[in-house]
Amino acid sequence: MKTPVPDYLKHVLSACAANDKGKLADYIPELANVNPDRLGLALSTVDGTIYSAGDDKVEFTMQSLSKPFTYALAIKEIGLIKVLEKVGVEPSGEAFNQISLDKERNIPKNPMINSGAITTHSLIPYKKTVPRAEQIRRFLSALAGRELSFDEQVYQSEIKTAFRNMSIGYMLRTVGVLEDDPKEMVNGYIKQCAIKVTVKDLAVMTSVLANGGIQPKTGKRLLDRSVVRQVLSVMLSCGMYDAAGDWLTTVGIPAKSGVAGGIIGVLPGQVGIAVFSPKIDEHGNSVRGLRIFENLARDMGLHLMEGTPSAQTILQSRYTVGKKNNVVVYELRGVLQFTESEMLLRILQDEPAGKSTIVLDLTNLSLIHDVGVRMLFEGVDRLKQDGYKVVVVDSEGLLDKEQLKGRKREVVTEELEKFLEKFK
Ligand code: DON
Repeated sequence: MKTPVPDYLKHVLSACAANDKGKLADYIPELANVNPDRLGLALSTVDGTIYSAGDDKVEFTMQSLSKPFTYALAIKEIGLIKVLEKVGVEPSGEAFNQISLDKERNIPKNPMINSGAITTHSLIPYKKTVPRAEQIRRFLSALAGRELSFDEQVYQSEIKTAFRNMSIGYMLRTVGVLEDDPKEMVNGYIKQCAIKVTVKDLAVMTSVLANGGIQPKTGKRLLDRSVVRQVLSVMLSCGMYDAAGDWLTTVGIPAKSGVAGGIIGVLPGQVGIAVFSPKIDEHGNSVRGLRIFENLARDMGLHLMEGTPSAQTILQSRYTVGKKNNVVVYELRGVLQFTESEMLLRILQDEPAGKSTIVLDLTNLSLIHDVGVRMLFEGVDRLKQDGYKVVVVDSEGLLDKEQLKGRKREVVTEELEKFLEKFK
């Protein structure tokens, strides 16, 4: 059997292809020369599988799609507190290139509009030999899993007409939000916008966000979970500018658009999606891209407010081993967040008396949240107080150093089967 997912993606593309509304972002002269009919779509799962359709190999410039990733890099480099001192997190309800500041704090309202993005760019630590745009290119390349490059023509073309962004830069310098030469910061920001990607690259990049910061293919952590949460939250409230409310109600996932026609969307824990179609509406969002996302959200049940499927499955199996059948093994699966932990503790509370050892196997869990760890060990302590010996099997290394503190005696890292041999 061949999976029908690629056929479904083709179907969505053809359903939206006839829409020829919108216009090219001709305020950047080079973008007026692109083929307006291009249409591409890619989707990534959190295990790193990429599906794509249409113009999936055509490169285009990221433009504002670079903003959430640069925001992530800034937080990674200097920490959230320092970033929040310079850029807020409130939706602006204004155009992406509005010359405005938060009235109370005199800083840009959020990092998704140009004033916030120019400021975020300036927060990437200065390195004498590696310009900020180059640092961003390297970080984006790591996310994409291939070397990305700048589109020099688009960069030069936007520089020539960047009067509005320059005004924003000088305004930011006037109020002290920018501490360096505004021209240099605006140029660097425009260069970061000119990084070239395909929808497939974007699907890989968004899969890292969907997967809590871990590159699904390599298993390497590229961003802390807390950074991803921050970035996705801001994408959800501010990513589609003055169309954010419309987007939230109809599509309902964190997203970001770019004036070259790209839109990315991330459903945490499930999928990353990227579309490309160059004609944009008055908000700077790809017209066909919006329709594609609306279709996908409806057909695939993507909307965040649909509620995440939960719990029913925390227990994969329960069985007893040992000569006297006095060792109870609980094999867990899925994710361990509050709801699942509550369910697990309820099951453990009903554990009939008379057994000596309880083994909790984490091997098949795909994610264990902090609250899951706390509740798990709270349960372990209570079982111990009731006289049980409790062993947690973490052969996949889900628990980190911090979580293992003071728990070394209760946690084993060998495989479950091997561990159970000693009871035979
Ligand atoms: O700064 C600009 O105007 C462009 N380099 C990027 C704007 C953009 O992509 C807005 N998003 N839809």
